[in-house]
Amino acid sequence: MCGIFGIVTDKDQNLGPILIEAARRLTYRGYDSVGAATLREDGTIDLRKDVGKIDAVAARYNLAEMRGRRGITQLRWATFGEPSQVNAQPHLDSDGDMVGAHNGNVVNNVELRQQFIAEGMLVRSQNDGETCVHAVERYVNRGYDFIDAIRLAYGDLAGDYAFVIGRTGDDKLYAIKKGSGLVVGIDDGFTCVSSDLPSILPLTRRIIRVQDGEIVILQAGGVELHSVIDGRLIQRQPEIVTQTMDAVQKGGYPHFMLKEIHEQPQVARELLHLLEGSGEVDTVLQKIKSSRHLYFIGCGTSYHACIAGAVFFAQIAGRPVIPVLAPQFVPQYAPAVTHEDVGLFVSQSGETKDVLNALQAAEKRGMTCFGIANVIGSTLTRAAACWLPLCCGYEISVPATKTFTNQVITFLYLAYRMSGRDTSELEQIPDLMEKTLQAVAPQVAALATSLNKWNDMYCLGFGATYPIALEGALKLKEITYAHCEGMLSTEFKHGPLSAVSEGYPVIFVAGPQDVPLIVSGINEVTCRGGRAVAVGEEDSRLRANASEMIVLPLSGPTFNPLLAVLPLQLLAYHLSLERGYDPDFPRNLSKTLTVD
Ligand code: AGP
Repeated sequence: MCGIFGIVTDKDQNLGPILIEAARRLTYRGYDSVGAATLREDGTIDLRKDVGKIDAVAARYNLAEMRGRRGITQLRWATFGEPSQVNAQPHLDSDGDMVGAHNGNVVNNVELRQQFIAEGMLVRSQNDGETCVHAVERYVNRGYDFIDAIRLAYGDLAGDYAFVIGRTGDDKLYAIKKGSGLVVGIDDGFTCVSSDLPSILPLTRRIIRVQDGEIVILQAGGVELHSVIDGRLIQRQPEIVTQTMDAVQKGGYPHFMLKEIHEQPQVARELLHLLEGSGEVDTVLQKIKSSRHLYFIGCGTSYHACIAGAVFFAQIAGRPVIPVLAPQFVPQYAPAVTHEDVGLFVSQSGETKDVLNALQAAEKRGMTCFGIANVIGSTLTRAAACWLPLCCGYEISVPATKTFTNQVITFLYLAYRMSGRDTSELEQIPDLMEKTLQAVAPQVAALATSLNKWNDMYCLGFGATYPIALEGALKLKEITYAHCEGMLSTEFKHGPLSAVSEGYPVIFVAGPQDVPLIVSGINEVTCRGGRAVAVGEEDSRLRANASEMIVLPLSGPTFNPLLAVLPLQLLAYHLSLERGYDPDFPRNLSKTLTVD
């Protein structure tokens, strides 16, 4: 996710402490490198940056002594280019008279870098933040004025990002936004801009929220907003933020879990953009295609994504996959794997010991091990031959939500690529997720209230909704402390049906193609007095047979499972609140399990 902060003040001063504090307040977004730049009175740029935690980098490079009227700081979470000093941000242009930093992802980074090198620019890193600077430099070199150069650069930079840049011989900073967050702060004697409010609020509570397609020109005495398209001035009055810092860090939501649930459409969008430009995807696909057996390996939520991935690979790419819980991989498969097999090890944290043990066992047998992880720099990303990032930013709440949907989307994307299907179809997913969250919210909250007296329930699915039922049940168990078993719907009659009594809740997650099968299961429950809650697209058969329905937007059998998990996450969240628990930090659990 990364974080940027820039400030313009009315006098030459020690900006170092302000930049360090602003960076500290963006650390919740996750980072591996830190950098700061000030534009000094003598017309030079002071740039200091490196891999490491803020306090360590600040001490090593004495960031506190940095002076100027204008300063930029950036926290980097590696996507393009390994964590290294040269890839850390901010970045200079070829001559060293412009400096800029971004957050987000520029997905045509590799192509643009090649163009810049061919045009004679000095490209020092692999990082896409540097690409943003050269994108502006290109048009300055062609004789455009600075604002027009930024506008034209905006047109060249594909992806979701926000970017701040300054140049010597000027008294301003400039920022643009496309997809990623950007907020401006204003007060007497300075203006500032940042990816997020926590770095601004200690300085001022007068803010302007920047919209996509807007350029901000920051001067010590005020800001101007212009349209990127036609350069026209945009009038927007500042607003006063009254929330506490805690509320701001939670994005205005009462809990991180709810914030992260609502971040799913945006992180899905960013992931899809990133996958489109990823060379690692080609490496992974090439090896998968020539492999003998293919394993998807994970624990908990990540394992559920593996099952969903296996269903997509079979249905879309015609490729059988063995999804397996990491610890069971060791006795059940590791003794028999060879160098012809491939494993995709999936983990939000990249530190789950069970997953790392399985990877070690597989590597000993010569199997090719790839990773899918959210935390870059984690052990999994270092141990795997190659890995794909989940692009979710920090997931703070213990129950995984946005990392699950991005894991499933990664598998879906790989299955599409395997089969040669047009991946642009996947671009509908983020909007469908937004629609779903809006549509189901009130009904799910009411359902949580009515389920509160039950300490035991089931959540059933079939085919691609089977892993969704498992995931919904895990969320319910994890943060409501009730027992909820996830199961294949057809297995219910082979034993658990005996638990059904008057009003006993059973949730059915229905894929549109499986409705007749699900309806049978529903009737086995309702005819014994049970309460069947169907989660699916509007369907007269579900409507007529279930006790009640949570209706998902029409999306078809492939995207439906991704939408169906959203009301289940929300249900677990609301039921947890009904019971007076903190959904972010359930008892006995930890976000990262580094023990056997
Ligand atoms: C999910 O809500 C859980 N917190 C848990 O099941 C988690 O998915 C599991 O521990 C695996 O973690 P990982 O993805 O970091 O490897």
